[in-house]
Amino acid sequence: MAKIECPECGEQIETTGIVTVCAKCEADLREVMEAARRERDERMKTIVRDDSVTTHEFIVRTRDLKKIYIMGEIEVPALRDVDLDVRRGEYLSIMGPSGSGKSTLFNMIGGLDKPTAGRCFIEEVDMAQLDAFELAWLRCRKIGYIFQTFNLIPVMTAMENITLPMIFAGMGTDEMMDRGRELLDMVGLGDRLDHKPYELSGGQQQRVAVARALANSPAIVLADEPTGNLDLHTGKEIIDLLKELNQFSGVTIISATHDLKMIDVSDRVVHIRDGEIERIEHRADIDLEVGGMGE
Ligand SMILES: Nc1ncnc2c1ncn2[C@@H]1O[C@H](COP(=O)(O)OP(=O)(O)OP(=O)(O)O)[C@@H](O)[C@H]1O
Ligand SMILES: [Mg+2]
Repeated sequence: MAKIECPECGEQIETTGIVTVCAKCEADLREVMEAARRERDERMKTIVRDDSVTTHEFIVRTRDLKKIYIMGEIEVPALRDVDLDVRRGEYLSIMGPSGSGKSTLFNMIGGLDKPTAGRCFIEEVDMAQLDAFELAWLRCRKIGYIFQTFNLIPVMTAMENITLPMIFAGMGTDEMMDRGRELLDMVGLGDRLDHKPYELSGGQQQRVAVARALANSPAIVLADEPTGNLDLHTGKEIIDLLKELNQFSGVTIISATHDLKMIDVSDRVVHIRDGEIERIEHRADIDLEVGGMGE
């Protein structure tokens, strides 16, 4: 929601970007809306700093992050004072038993839900300080999301699913189509542009979801059990794809998972239990364990 002023009658209008005429005098508002969008984007760039100019070592930080779900009279503690620093370009897996708080942590870092207490910073920006518009801007451009159940829009083709976040980011049509094709090629689906989700296999749907997550060149990809609904082989292909993206485009990957195959590609594995970080394994520890298993 943004506030603009009608250039004809001066009416103050709250707009979601869908209605493009003034409700009072029916003047065309598209030009003012476009100018307001550009101005907000410029303002956001100073709040949420651009990757090319930031050098923060840690792309995500959480401090004393707490989440308590209230169910009527009952309080369900899902996260208890989680402190986590994620380095730029890192591949981080979050592992833990069912109900340990992985998705809850994912939702807090992704700005999909608000913590009960504590803070979460994305590139040193405290998410709690952002208003609804700023948070939507950050989610759209800085973070790509991948879910266990793919979450593609069923009535849209692969290409339409991928270009949707680009529309929200205000990208022009030609650029959007080029980028959509490039991304679908990259995930090996250059020949499936016009397929709707039900015309694709599970693995292919998840590839479309990976491409969609990358639509606006995010700094972070958050994946919640991305291989949970896939067979062993297809799951491995998605993990390899995520690792390639991480290595070649430097995108930071944070993935909640039960999948032991994910350990192999991770720089660190955060083990959580009952909403608390139990221990953190580093690449070197993991290599040692894997090496030790053959002895
Ligand atoms: N919306 C909600 N309302 C109430 N309680 C919730 C809600 N979401 C999660 N919980 C509770 O919070 C705790 C953590 O749940 P969460 O979904 O984060 O676990 P998880 O580690 O992702 O589990 P899984 O591996 O099964 O996906 C659980 O005890 C769960 O029952
Ligand atoms: Mg979960």
